[in-house]
Amino acid sequence: MHQPIRITDNGLDQQGEKGERDGHDPPRGAASLLHGGDLAAARRLFPGAPEPFIDLSTGINPHSIPCRNCHPKYLPGCRSRGARPAHRGRGPGLPERPSPAHVVAAPGMQMLLPLVAALVPPGRAAVLGPTYAEHVRVAALVGHRVKEVTDIGPLKATDLATIVNPNNPDGRTLGKDLLLALADELRSHGGLLVVDEAFMDVGPAGASLGAEVARRNIIVLRSFGKFFGLAGLRLGFALAPADLAARLNASLGPWPVAGPAIVIGEAALADRSWAEAMRESLGRGAARLDEVLTDAGLEVVGGTSLFRLVQMQAAVELFHHLGRAGILVRHFVQQPTGCGSGFRRARTGGIAFARRLLHFDHELD
Ligand SMILES: Cc1ncc(COP(=O)(O)O)c(C=O)c1O
Repeated sequence: MHQPIRITDNGLDQQGEKGERDGHDPPRGAASLLHGGDLAAARRLFPGAPEPFIDLSTGINPHSIPCRNCHPKYLPGCRSRGARPAHRGRGPGLPERPSPAHVVAAPGMQMLLPLVAALVPPGRAAVLGPTYAEHVRVAALVGHRVKEVTDIGPLKATDLATIVNPNNPDGRTLGKDLLLALADELRSHGGLLVVDEAFMDVGPAGASLGAEVARRNIIVLRSFGKFFGLAGLRLGFALAPADLAARLNASLGPWPVAGPAIVIGEAALADRSWAEAMRESLGRGAARLDEVLTDAGLEVVGGTSLFRLVQMQAAVELFHHLGRAGILVRHFVQQPTGCGSGFRRARTGGIAFARRLLHFDHELD
């Protein structure tokens, strides 16, 4: 049988001592791994791990769209130019050509989060969780009294309600009718619904609220980097009622998006055949990964075709086992109600993941 395990700042000790975490505490050494993809932090946590690290900790498509060479010499145009990628391209569920008056382009969705949260005067905010932690952090930053809730009910009485759809990390996707009804309830007292659609490019057809923003108290946020595999390009969008879009654009000021991001974004968003083929390929990759994970005795409880979520008691141990083997996955410390298990998320793809993963059982026995 394996020894009880104690996490230290340097990794994992095979000891059973008091001071052990229970299943709900963050693994101490992993506390710095707040977001996926932080390989520098992973190297500090797992100094002896073989290189190169295999990064399975993000939901970023590993098969990025090919980029044209483009030179950052020219200053991009102001807001109207920055809005063109979203205007000219389409994602699932987005209107054929969203009017530029409703589109805000920014250097990544993350940059938009505090600006969107600040559109509402400080008040009651709630985020449907567990989810991407930045929404709670940012709402508090701009002065809201914010809580993470696990049910849609408490969102109705707030001034700012945020839902990630499909959700990160469990892939939960709420139907359009439910969200529109929530927006109506919020509107009755001046509340705003923010829907983070970072992963909607691989979500169910027709689930996006992108086409609804013109008429309603809804802001839809889209990330370019995940599906197109170009997170480092830093490009994201808000689709918003025209008055709110104007306020967001005013906050961002001129030249919000780099020239190369505009050129690459325009070309990528217009390439519908790449997107369709990629959606299929990611779906096949996710099915393969599920087989690998299931064969390894893991229970896949959710995800999208860009990441999978498994649930297990020994999540922390597996996180460290894989880390020492040079494979970075995410460990989630938040639990659904009443569940004592930890979670991990793995990006789809990667036979190396499978081979190394399969040694885990032996090490625990
Ligand atoms: C749900 C969710 N929303 C937003 C973001 C930020 O996206 P971007 O890279 O466009 O800033 C992330 C990044 O991981 C995310 O997971």
